[in-house]
Amino acid sequence: MKGLVLAGGTATRLFPLTIVTNKHLLPIYDRPMIYYPLETLAGMGIREVMVIVGGKSVGDVVELLADGSHFGLDLTYRYQRGALGIAHAIGLARDFVGDDSFCVVLGDNILRGPALADVAAAFDAGAWDAGAMLYRVPDPERFGVAELGPAGEIVGFEEKPAKPKSDLIPIGVYFLRPNAFDVIEHLAPSGRGEFEITDVLNHFIPGGRLFSRVYEGHWADAGTVPSLLRAAALAEEDDQAGHLAPPPERPAG
Ligand code: G1P
Repeated sequence: MKGLVLAGGTATRLFPLTIVTNKHLLPIYDRPMIYYPLETLAGMGIREVMVIVGGKSVGDVVELLADGSHFGLDLTYRYQRGALGIAHAIGLARDFVGDDSFCVVLGDNILRGPALADVAAAFDAGAWDAGAMLYRVPDPERFGVAELGPAGEIVGFEEKPAKPKSDLIPIGVYFLRPNAFDVIEHLAPSGRGEFEITDVLNHFIPGGRLFSRVYEGHWADAGTVPSLLRAAALAEEDDQAGHLAPPPERPAG
């Protein structure tokens, strides 16, 4: 399985913090934000990872992460022009992914808790075409939101609905296969002008092709000031409980 970390976008929700720098370089407790999604992928046993970069400070992102060997990863980079959304960024990785299944982690998603190696292996070995990690939140209108059927099954996802139909959201960890690229090619942009990952997931709901699991640890995105603080608090709690390994040391050169 391969990995993708999406670290483009303009991060206007964090202005003025992100006027001159990339959101993914901001500190979350003792390390830059982008370390967390890389550690999430490394925890799945994935080695080959593409980082989709864009916006400000792209050179600094590459200088910080280098070849990724300090994370136990083998990194390559691709540039995303503009802020056209998650599905557009994923579409840039078609050649890198080749025939493999892959996991996408958004560069601002902080997961603290069980590693997802078993979940990744279950998806990889199964016949599903797409997978979503879910989480219950008090403010679902900020996210993609699952609509549930009578037996609790997912019947659809809505992106940032004014009236959320549940408190269950897909967090920024997705499992996909190469057939996702054909779906992405035929997507239309949403009302906010982005190619939405929720539309890709919706495509795979009929016929039971979508795999989903509720994440059992703690989760925060770090795309707004309150969630940035919450993400740092999660990392601090983990550190105090002895569960946060020191940030990997970047080799010289
Ligand atoms: C994105 C997705 C949304 C998901 C969220 C998780 O939203 O579009 O479905 O729930 O990430 O962080 P964004 O924060 O990019 O607007």
